[in-house]
Amino acid sequence: MYTGTVSQKGKKYYIRTFGCQMNERDSETIAGILVGLGYERAASEKTADLIIFNTCCVRETAERKAYGRLNALKRLKRKNPALLIGVGGCMAQKDRERVLSSAAHVDFVFGTHNIQELPEILQEAIMAREPIVQVWEEARGIKELPSQRAKGVSAYVTITHGCTNYCSYCIVPYVRGRELSRRPEDIISEVGQLMGKGYREITLLGQNVNTYGRDLGGNFTFARLLRDINGVAGLQRLRYTTSHPRDFSPAIIEAVRDCDKVCEHFHLPLQAGSNLILKKMNRGYTREEYLQLIGKVRELVPDSSITTDIIVGFPGETEEDFAATLDMIRRVRFDNAFTFIFSPRSGTPAADMPGQVPLAIKKERLNRLMTLQDRISRDKNEKLRGKEVEVLVEGTSKKREDILTGRTRTNKLVLFTGTREIIGKMVQVKITRPQTWNLYGELI
Ligand code: SAH
Ligand code: SF4
Ligand code: F3S
Repeated sequence: MYTGTVSQKGKKYYIRTFGCQMNERDSETIAGILVGLGYERAASEKTADLIIFNTCCVRETAERKAYGRLNALKRLKRKNPALLIGVGGCMAQKDRERVLSSAAHVDFVFGTHNIQELPEILQEAIMAREPIVQVWEEARGIKELPSQRAKGVSAYVTITHGCTNYCSYCIVPYVRGRELSRRPEDIISEVGQLMGKGYREITLLGQNVNTYGRDLGGNFTFARLLRDINGVAGLQRLRYTTSHPRDFSPAIIEAVRDCDKVCEHFHLPLQAGSNLILKKMNRGYTREEYLQLIGKVRELVPDSSITTDIIVGFPGETEEDFAATLDMIRRVRFDNAFTFIFSPRSGTPAADMPGQVPLAIKKERLNRLMTLQDRISRDKNEKLRGKEVEVLVEGTSKKREDILTGRTRTNKLVLFTGTREIIGKMVQVKITRPQTWNLYGELI
């Protein structure tokens, strides 16, 4: 149990999370600290005594969303001046001054390395008249903290913090610091504890999980970690995100093949299909190497799904470069792709590169890419029509209580009619109506 310095018994908190799974996991830690201080979860911002925004700055749209939402809190603060508002996460780490100047109603700003100091920050914020700012430039080691996890069958477990890859477009290394691996024994014992609490699926998190262990000074690798966690009693499914194609070693593919709990889903962000652009992105692989990796994955784990991330409109991207991306999409035939318009992030090398692509061209390329990928996704899902798949039931559909949702081992969303009692169970579902984004089926 966390013993903080201020007791806020009975007070209510609300956390709004933007960005990636790493941020969602951090929000669980923030919640854990707050509960340790006596706070309870509020159902909405309206009923909260403390609101924390855990922000993202990976693209401009993420920042715009956070500032927009933050602005909307002004009204709540006017009605209830005792309301405390805090901003943390990547945007706070990057632009603390901008947060304070554009949102005068913010009481405290804390960086990505300062979550552990929340009890002190809160205490100061309650007393002070001026906003409190606590942003360390660098991580000071890894501290094991309490957490208040999302309920369900699936839990996130962080294995590495930060990123040291410096892809030229990406802000993450600047706001999350260098890559730091948690100790394997801490990770494995956490997975064991989560099994005791009823979780059945674990997703290991890191910006590049494939380089796990490099900073630990031994020879403990990601492949070894997968094999060790695979042996934890009670675990049914093991996932991980995100991988880096450069570091996805044959030993990792073999571990996926050998470990029965590790799911047959490979998320391998390609980013671009042209070698020139890949080089400018500082990705560390060529299209040929990427295709080789895909070949190896399909050879060793034949029934797997493969998904990716693509950025269109990187500086200097010509029509020919873009055609090379489309060509890769056709060759690999991904199950799904997350597609993004290049967003210049100040402080990253790509933001100042010559040949910035006009927005209209970026949008037009994105559309062509999405049209092609949607067709492939639909074709791939169509192949599952009439097939039986193993589904871990996660919950009910947002819109309808009688529709259950779950995922295949290949990470495809399946919807089917059923009763709540089977939530958390592994069931067999026959796919009757495959669509582009999800699969409708019937319980067998
Ligand atoms: N560490 C992960 C996640 C990084 S952020 C990884 O490397 O895959 C998730 C995705 O956002 C990236 O894969 C990339 O496709 C996209 N992205 C990152 N920076 C971006 C930028 N400046 N503009 C557009 N997309 C970006
Ligand atoms: Fe960003 Fe590259 Fe690190 Fe991913 S691997 S977080 S894209 S720098
Ligand atoms: Fe965004 Fe930070 Fe994640 S910038 S994508 S929340 S690491």
